[in-house]
Amino acid sequence: MKRIVSGIKPTGTLTLGNYIGAIKQFVLLQQSMPEDEFFLFIADLHALTTPQEPTELRKRIKEIAGMYLACGLNPEKTVFYIQSEIKEHAELGYLLQCFTYMGELERMTQYKDKVKKQESSLSSAMFTYPSLMAADIILYDADFVPVGDDQKQHLELTRDIASRFNGRFRDFFTVPEPIIPKVGSRIMDLQNPEKKMSKSDESDKGYVSLFDDPNIILKKIKSAVTDSIGIVQYDVDNQPGIANLLTIYTSMTDESIENIVSKYNGLGYKEFKEDLATIVSKKVGEIQQRYNEIISSNTLDNILDQGRQIAQQIAYKKLEKCKQKLGLGRKRK
Ligand code: TYM
Repeated sequence: MKRIVSGIKPTGTLTLGNYIGAIKQFVLLQQSMPEDEFFLFIADLHALTTPQEPTELRKRIKEIAGMYLACGLNPEKTVFYIQSEIKEHAELGYLLQCFTYMGELERMTQYKDKVKKQESSLSSAMFTYPSLMAADIILYDADFVPVGDDQKQHLELTRDIASRFNGRFRDFFTVPEPIIPKVGSRIMDLQNPEKKMSKSDESDKGYVSLFDDPNIILKKIKSAVTDSIGIVQYDVDNQPGIANLLTIYTSMTDESIENIVSKYNGLGYKEFKEDLATIVSKKVGEIQQRYNEIISSNTLDNILDQGRQIAQQIAYKKLEKCKQKLGLGRKRK
């Protein structure tokens, strides 16, 4: 039996990128690996790397939990929990910082982007959080970690940290494998297809939120940037906007790109975008309907309580063993 672990950070709103690159993959994996264990959490400690308004943060934590379920994850086969409710994440995060080199953290593109963009008030946690992310994963001896393309570098670092620790203390942590979908691992901004679709974006025209009104979704997709070539075909270099929309189309329908391309052969972008807009807004509308039912029942708290209990036991045991290995505290009898 294998263990699959992943998480989402409750900053900004959940986007179509999060759905296609991560949540949908979790659902597919759960269907194709029914014997395996799924641990999915809400990475709220990671959210604090940038300033958060407390009531807003708490609301978003619940939103992600509700969306995991609304998107089709099975609560009987998944351990759902909130990262900050398991203290061991933060503690192992610190221990792993002691096994992470400054140079490695300095090479992280997400950190470099932040430094480039601004920001005199960048928190030190923004620099060190990849060690916390490594802790989130290896605390549970994850075999597989499904993520979008932007997390690949963090996964590589996680593997390096785990291997380094194992090199000194005999195979102690499982070295995890990332699972990155071949299609849809990097959904791009609708207004600027050179840029990743992101929930922390200033302008909301470039992303579809899973909480957008279906009518707004229609508008956003219909006004997505395209090009002047006028042919629906998959050419990332010359038609990045259309390539992105084709990726969204295939991800939302499971129809192959070739099929879609031949369906719109001879037709203009208008028809293609209108159809896609309907597909996405319908699908997201259905998810929202399930979400509203879940959020208005009180099952969510019970699910998160159960998840906390299961995750807690595993995390506690692993961390205790890790501290013993390192020579911390007193020897256990
Ligand atoms: P986060 O919250 O930024 O993103 C959550 C997941 O969504 C994927 N994703 C995308 N996929 C395709 N296209 C996009 N435009 C897009 N935007 C986001 C991300 O790749 C990710 O899989 N640090 C992580 C959260 C985290 C985590 C972990 C993940 C913390 N600890 C341990 C896995 C394992 C983050 O900020 O993801």
